[in-house]
Amino acid sequence: MALQTINPTQTAAWAKLQQHYNAIASTTMQELFQLDDSRVAKFNLKWNDFLLDYSKNRINEETMSLLLELANQVGLKEAITAYFGGELINQTENRAVLHTALRAKESAVIKVDGQNVMPEVYAVKNKIKTFTNEVVSGQRKGFTGKAFTDIVNIGIGGSDLGPAMAVEALQFYKNHLNVHFVSNVDGDHVNEIIKKINPETTLFVIVSKTFTTQETLTNSETIKEWFLKSAKQEDVAKHFVAVSTNLDKVTGFGINPDNVFPMWEWVGGRFSLWSAVGLSISLAIGFENYNALLSGANEMDEHFKTTDFDQNIPVTLALLSVWYNNFFGAESEALIPYTQYLQKLAPYLQQGTMESNGKSVGRDGEPVNYQTGTIIWGEPGTNSQHAFFQLIHQGTKVIPADFIGFVKPLYGDDNHHDKLMSNFFAQTEALLHGKTEAQVQAEFDKQGLSPEKASTLLPFKVFEGNKPTNTLLIQKLTPQSLGSLIAMYEHKIFVQGIIWNIFSFDQWGVELGKQLANSILDEINSKTINNHDSSTSFLLNHFLKNK
Ligand code: F6P
Repeated sequence: MALQTINPTQTAAWAKLQQHYNAIASTTMQELFQLDDSRVAKFNLKWNDFLLDYSKNRINEETMSLLLELANQVGLKEAITAYFGGELINQTENRAVLHTALRAKESAVIKVDGQNVMPEVYAVKNKIKTFTNEVVSGQRKGFTGKAFTDIVNIGIGGSDLGPAMAVEALQFYKNHLNVHFVSNVDGDHVNEIIKKINPETTLFVIVSKTFTTQETLTNSETIKEWFLKSAKQEDVAKHFVAVSTNLDKVTGFGINPDNVFPMWEWVGGRFSLWSAVGLSISLAIGFENYNALLSGANEMDEHFKTTDFDQNIPVTLALLSVWYNNFFGAESEALIPYTQYLQKLAPYLQQGTMESNGKSVGRDGEPVNYQTGTIIWGEPGTNSQHAFFQLIHQGTKVIPADFIGFVKPLYGDDNHHDKLMSNFFAQTEALLHGKTEAQVQAEFDKQGLSPEKASTLLPFKVFEGNKPTNTLLIQKLTPQSLGSLIAMYEHKIFVQGIIWNIFSFDQWGVELGKQLANSILDEINSKTINNHDSSTSFLLNHFLKNK
């Protein structure tokens, strides 16, 4: 069953939302809080050990009920059934979208083309388990008989960002293996990693769904060449494993077919950390922890699939995002985790969100006449407070922000954690209330500032407030809760794509640059610049002359 094609702006709910926006846009959140004492009770959701407070948004009950109407009118319920049911909802590539099957229970029956995929999924999971245990225990050894000490994940995009983010996020749960990531085709990147490793004790995991990606193949060849300076050709099979759908190319590289971890066409790169693409995560934190990550995601899948939309966390987050993107004209969303462990969450979700929903053609093949994909950016608090928060507090743009915090720190250091969390709470409070002229004046009076100085300075010190935030408070950062958190954002992305009537699971927009890079590389190699626009020719000539 194909996804329905409904232009959201043609729905009755959209027209009502537009009217409602006109009526509510000038009402501030400060007023909304004053008007309604029970606001937070209405606008919070509790699920497992997640607490989402979305009361600090420019919404009232009518807003939420109209947004829910919109979700119903674009056929979200049917779309969710098609998504989890293995329908070919990635229509431009004629593929199902089933990363959720990778974390489903073994007893589940999930069919693609009439075939239950779960036995294959669990066969690969068991292979990951055995392999992980052999490497972590030291039973699997390198070409000189030594146990592995280092892992290098070679991949890019979805074959890098997910594992890199999760290994960083879960380093508290890590074992003795050092895990490195090489992604960029920039030779300086791979050479910096090579500096840190010993060929005798390093295992290379080449992750490429297609095994045709320029960056990954170039880095793999460079590393193999370096490796062969100390080892023999037959040792490659001991030190290189691959995660790919392209068995022919993998074996052509010298990898033993037994050391290939398959994946499937129905797993998109940016949603693939749940497949064998997550092998480096399993190696870093052990299979049990890796499995807990998957089971946390599966719990969120069940919540998303079975919970009424008004109690559904991913649906709520997606609707709020549509509200700001399409009615307030917000261009971007900030993601501020109050834990250093999640420093790679924003880059990871940039691919998830922007590669998925950065589309301008609707599912009917026509250009859209409304805004789609939001820009995602962010850094951990409190660092980001000292970097870009100025613009969120006093700039001219509406930047809805998700604040993600944890009740418990991992090392139990309450001194630090209470300071961290006091900032977490203070920032959303400051963004809500701002600071009025009267408050600033009172501070000036207290300081004994002269009236002239006070009146000159006053406008610069006023904070308007009324800046929307979601607060997500999770009990503790564990593999389980991280799995749920990532799945939560995946489903938010899905809901947004359904509402915007776009195809979220293809990425044709990354192709053009790749094609041009290939032909420019030929020109650089042959030192012959072909016909380009004058700017590109000028730059290429400068490069060739000075290199
Ligand atoms: O950036 C485009 C893309 O196709 C991503 O979707 C994918 O994650 C990445 O390239 C890597 O592709 P592969 O795993 O095939 O090397």
